[in-house]
Amino acid sequence: MPRAQNIFRQVIFTVLLIFVQVCVHNLAKATPGIPVLPRPNFNPAPSPRLVVPRQSGSSIPNGWQFFSCFVDNTAAGRLLTTESNLPSNTMTPAECIGYCSANNWSYAGVEYGGECWCDEYLHQVGFQETASSNCNMPCNGDATQTCGGPNLIDVYWNGDFEQEGNPVTLSRSFWSFVGCFVDNVSQRTFPAQVQAVGGVYPPSCADACAFYGYTMMGTEYGDECWCGNSTDTASQAPDTDCVMTCSADRDYYCGNANRLSVYQNNPPAETYTNECLAGQLPSWLNVTRLSILASPKEPSTLQTGWNGAVLRIIDVLTVGDTTWSLLSACQNCNITWIDLSFGNNTDPQGFLVPTVPYPEGIQGPNPSPIISIDLHQGESVIFQTEATLPDGYNGYDGYCASESPYPDDSPYSPTNGPIFLGNGHADNWAICQNISASPVNRLDLVFQPVAQHPNYMLEDCIAVDLFLE
Ligand SMILES: *[C@@H]1O[C@H](CO)[C@@H](O)[C@H](O)[C@H]1NC(C)=O
Ligand SMILES: *[C@@H]1O[C@H](CO)[C@@H](O)[C@H](O)[C@H]1NC(C)=O
Ligand SMILES: *[C@@H]1O[C@H](CO)[C@@H](O)[C@H](O)[C@H]1NC(C)=O
Ligand SMILES: *[C@@H]1O[C@H](CO)[C@@H](O)[C@H](O)[C@H]1NC(C)=O
Ligand SMILES: *[C@@H]1O[C@H](CO)[C@@H](O)[C@H](O)[C@H]1NC(C)=O
Ligand SMILES: *[C@@H]1O[C@H](CO)[C@@H](O)[C@H](O)[C@H]1NC(C)=O
Ligand SMILES: *[C@@H]1O[C@H](CO)[C@@H](O)[C@H](O)[C@H]1NC(C)=O
Repeated sequence: MPRAQNIFRQVIFTVLLIFVQVCVHNLAKATPGIPVLPRPNFNPAPSPRLVVPRQSGSSIPNGWQFFSCFVDNTAAGRLLTTESNLPSNTMTPAECIGYCSANNWSYAGVEYGGECWCDEYLHQVGFQETASSNCNMPCNGDATQTCGGPNLIDVYWNGDFEQEGNPVTLSRSFWSFVGCFVDNVSQRTFPAQVQAVGGVYPPSCADACAFYGYTMMGTEYGDECWCGNSTDTASQAPDTDCVMTCSADRDYYCGNANRLSVYQNNPPAETYTNECLAGQLPSWLNVTRLSILASPKEPSTLQTGWNGAVLRIIDVLTVGDTTWSLLSACQNCNITWIDLSFGNNTDPQGFLVPTVPYPEGIQGPNPSPIISIDLHQGESVIFQTEATLPDGYNGYDGYCASESPYPDDSPYSPTNGPIFLGNGHADNWAICQNISASPVNRLDLVFQPVAQHPNYMLEDCIAVDLFLE
């Protein structure tokens, strides 16, 4: 083992002793604020009310309550849009509620004695509520109970009205809803279909299209993300056409069949350049150690349990004299953790380097023994032992800091920035569960994750901003 490597190991050992505990910042879940991506055309929140179940003998599952009887299947469409595949001859409210509940819907509705419909919202505009005595058709599965009527639906509800009452806002976005547009395979409105981190829903599609340089995006048919710059070739449809819930996150609508929910990016030019502040690193970056805080761009009902973390360099593989390391948010990695910096003001800036706090009296190798190597789309931020790099290769200087794109008083910024960019792009970092890692599903930082990567599922990645501290 070369001497430098030896010293490095010693130092790492010391670092390990010093940093036995991993410091994880649990960011408070963001609350709605200024930049808003409204869900298009939400129906008004139904006012919750206490309802005594009408039918004697009916057993409504825990947590569910009767909501009301509504006219259904009108010109405005279905009140609840997803039909169950339950057999009609055994239908009861409890049967239908059980099905909708198991599939995580908030509303269940029985109609015409044997139909069961589920949804997350009441979809009609101006729903036509009617006297509950009108929903008087006996249920096919139990004639002592009632199951709606012809074009009349008995709606039950699990009490989850958080989303209806509070239109979902995008915590860190400058996209706004433009409208619902016609789209079809013979004449596409937007030229590019792309994959999105965490599956397709408006915030992830917005990020993906911004990354590829488009100013507009549209979601379609529940799970498609399309990017473009103009809707000129498309005709506009009523907003009420675009009411298919996104498969990746049912808090949002994702167009419909042949319908695009279209959004436009309106970044405030004065605050957000998405470019590096070349040569203008904030003076406080003139420190030996730097923390990078990975903070989820969008709190999602599907991305629970992870509110952000400080990233650290961890060693993942050593073969001979070469050690590979990467940036990870792993909270239970008891392998080597190292802090990092942007080098110093003497070095060229933009080299992301580990900083090893040398103990008194020990002279460490300088520059640091491992350095960042080129950034590749879909891959982690990798470091390698400098001694084993090819001749003439000095590492990668594509990292930089940018002013925070978010207003100072935004509740979404855990700090006032700056944020950390790779290749000049801000909208491209994600934390992905690395299935090839040890421990398995280690949360590694990935630069613009791609579909079909052997080491992670794009749908399971969480888009993050990296704040420097
Ligand atoms: C329903 O939600 C639970 C908890 O989030 C999840 O584990 C389950 O897979 C979901 N079921 C469906 C059908 O989406
Ligand atoms: C879309 O618009 C952006 C900003 O004007 C431009 O940079 C980009 O080249 C355009 N893309 C296409 C495919 O026209
Ligand atoms: C396809 O979309 C275009 C643009 O909106 C529209 O003009 C055309 O009629 C549509 N074609 C079909 C078959 O719907
Ligand atoms: C960097 O830090 C050193 C030591 O703290 C200080 O003397 C120097 O002025 C700082 N440079 C900048 C540009 O702030
Ligand atoms: C942490 O270290 C202990 C003891 O060396 C080992 O048994 C355990 O597997 C390690 N855990 C992880 C997550 O690496
Ligand atoms: C900055 O880095 C250079 C090269 O690694 C080193 O010679 C110099 O002493 C460093 N300066 C400070 C202030 O740490
Ligand atoms: C996943 O883990 C493996 C093994 O540690 C590592 O080589 C790879 O760089 C990690 N990240 C990605 C995106 O594959």
